Amino acid sequence: MPGTRRDILGVDRAQTSVLRIRSMANLFDVDEMASGYAQSRPPIHVHIIDRVRSAVEGLPVARALDVGCGAGISTKALQKIANVCLGLEPSQPMLPFAGRVAPGALFVAGSAEYMPLPAKSVDLIGAAGSLNYVDLDRFFPEAARVLRPKGLLLVYDFSPGRSFRDNDSLDQWFRQFVERYPFPANDAHELSPPILARASSLFRVVSSDVFEIGVVLQPEFYLNYMMTETNVAAAVRRGIRVQEIKQWSAETLGPLWNNQAREVLFQGYWACMSLERAEELNR
Ligand SMILES: C[S@@+](CC[C@H](N)C(=O)[O-])C[C@H]1O[C@@H](n2cnc3c(N)ncnc32)[C@H](O)[C@@H]1O
Repeated sequence: MPGTRRDILGVDRAQTSVLRIRSMANLFDVDEMASGYAQSRPPIHVHIIDRVRSAVEGLPVARALDVGCGAGISTKALQKIANVCLGLEPSQPMLPFAGRVAPGALFVAGSAEYMPLPAKSVDLIGAAGSLNYVDLDRFFPEAARVLRPKGLLLVYDFSPGRSFRDNDSLDQWFRQFVERYPFPANDAHELSPPILARASSLFRVVSSDVFEIGVVLQPEFYLNYMMTETNVAAAVRRGIRVQEIKQWSAETLGPLWNNQAREVLFQGYWACMSLERAEELNR
């Protein structure tokens, strides 16, 4: 009985339990990553959303979905441009944190390729750093199904903060960090506004920008933040202890930070896309 499977949000809970099994290969699907994402990620999202809000017409919207919401930091930022926010995330350990990080939002297990939501049920889909891990050929038609006519898809991302403004010592450190603990090959695909512009005929980029945002961080925060990067998760999967990685990082970062807060620069992009060809999918 299809009518009994959906809850009051229209979320198909039967489909979400199937999706839990599919997320096993996800590097984010571990408890340490989830608590790191809840507590140790830099607060860049809110700055990006402020920029989007000033550049894009029609915001705030009534209802938004955050695809690949992680521990909810991106959902919390999305609450600035939507009255009701729903976070969707395949990694089970992330979800309990998300409810605490973004109170007032609703969260559900699911993936970008199969969203357990009715057709035309949201005005905006946000994706912060998540589409790189998604099968885009399946995601775009699914996003077009779930969005209302003229709905918006907001995609953004930023690279790891690895530069001080005044010297390149942190860049040098980051190079050593990645040489020692390489990022996993082929796990994520590159995205940018030009790549997104060519990615799907269903969506058109209406506004986009690249940015550099500086945020002052404490040395301890930066150390814990680095432990949330996927090169650390990949090293742990290869059998290296996280404490060993943290100790090496603490010893080598110490002289650079000198126990003082420092401004770290983050580079990234955002692209706001509008749904162009919903009719044929939503028939
Ligand atoms: C870099 S994290 C970003 C998390 C969150 N949006 C943020 O900004 O903090 C990428 C997220 O994408 C999620 N993810 C991976 N594969 C996915 C998929 N197929 N569908 C939806 N999300 C996915 C991961 O579980 C992870 O939480």
